[in-house]
Amino acid sequence: DNETKLYKIGFSQCISKDDWRKAMDHEMQVEASLHTDINLTVFQANENIELQKKHIEFMINNGFDVIVISPLRPEPLVPLVEKAYDKGIPVIIVDRKINSEKFTAFVGANNIDVGRNAANYIASLNEKKANILEIKGSDNSSPVIERHLGFHKIVKSEASLSVVRSVKDEEIEQRMPQILDSLSVKPINFVFAFNDDIAYNAWKIAKSKGLEKTIKFIGVDGLNGSNNGIDLVQNGVLSATILYPTGGHEAIKIAMKILRNENVPKNNKLNTTIIDYRNAEIMKNQYDRINKHQNDIEIQQDRIKKQEQTYSTQSNILKVLLGL
Ligand code: FRU
Repeated sequence: DNETKLYKIGFSQCISKDDWRKAMDHEMQVEASLHTDINLTVFQANENIELQKKHIEFMINNGFDVIVISPLRPEPLVPLVEKAYDKGIPVIIVDRKINSEKFTAFVGANNIDVGRNAANYIASLNEKKANILEIKGSDNSSPVIERHLGFHKIVKSEASLSVVRSVKDEEIEQRMPQILDSLSVKPINFVFAFNDDIAYNAWKIAKSKGLEKTIKFIGVDGLNGSNNGIDLVQNGVLSATILYPTGGHEAIKIAMKILRNENVPKNNKLNTTIIDYRNAEIMKNQYDRINKHQNDIEIQQDRIKKQEQTYSTQSNILKVLLGL
């Protein structure tokens, strides 16, 4: 009814280009569409930190009831996040962390665990010697820092594992061919890449040198869909991917709880797990089922909207007829 307050939730998304980000946006939109009393606006910063600052400033100045942020980097947004928080606007941080405790809730998987899972997976294969090329994400975001820490923690404790090279994503086009050419000096039998896209690119470079079968590739994210993590595991490109859920659904659920004055924990940890040939199909089937449900819901909502429209035109006609 007209008395119901329409709450404004704003989401500031740091990166826009990849499927993982799109999945996060979509999850939020689907979850938001289930509530008639909220309006979700998504702001795309396209990896531009100044733009992300402007978006947050805009939400602070325009009466947004909850601000959700996936911050590009930990430092630059701190003053704005603190400003929002000090003004009493609830702030939910998703996936990447900021260097401040002044926020209402964080939701995301633990990236130390992600790094640990990757190293534990390699250790579980019981190779006599696992020589690893680590390919890190290129920014200084908290997932990059923490995946590296978790990975190396396990590597240090497992005698058979050693990281022989560590490069950044942006360097691989240039450096990986050289690294592969010097294999006789330092053989590499594993690549741990900080996401599935990077892992797939590294695999393509190895394939161009005929080396894609001598190296096992491990990525992160584990998205469903063509050429995403689960698919790449199923078709043998990746040996494994470490699931990194986007937290889109959960972020909006937390926002709803805040708006209803329910208590929310400050840290909302999402689960991560190893996906390899043993569970890839199960994971795919689960996601396919969820997608089907979501599509059904979207179709239903569309129909309901159409019915509402016909109903309101009909009732307008009725009003005219009745002379109201
Ligand atoms: C997508 C992405 C993911 C990664 C996450 C970390 O933009 O790079 O691949 O897991 O961001 O924040």
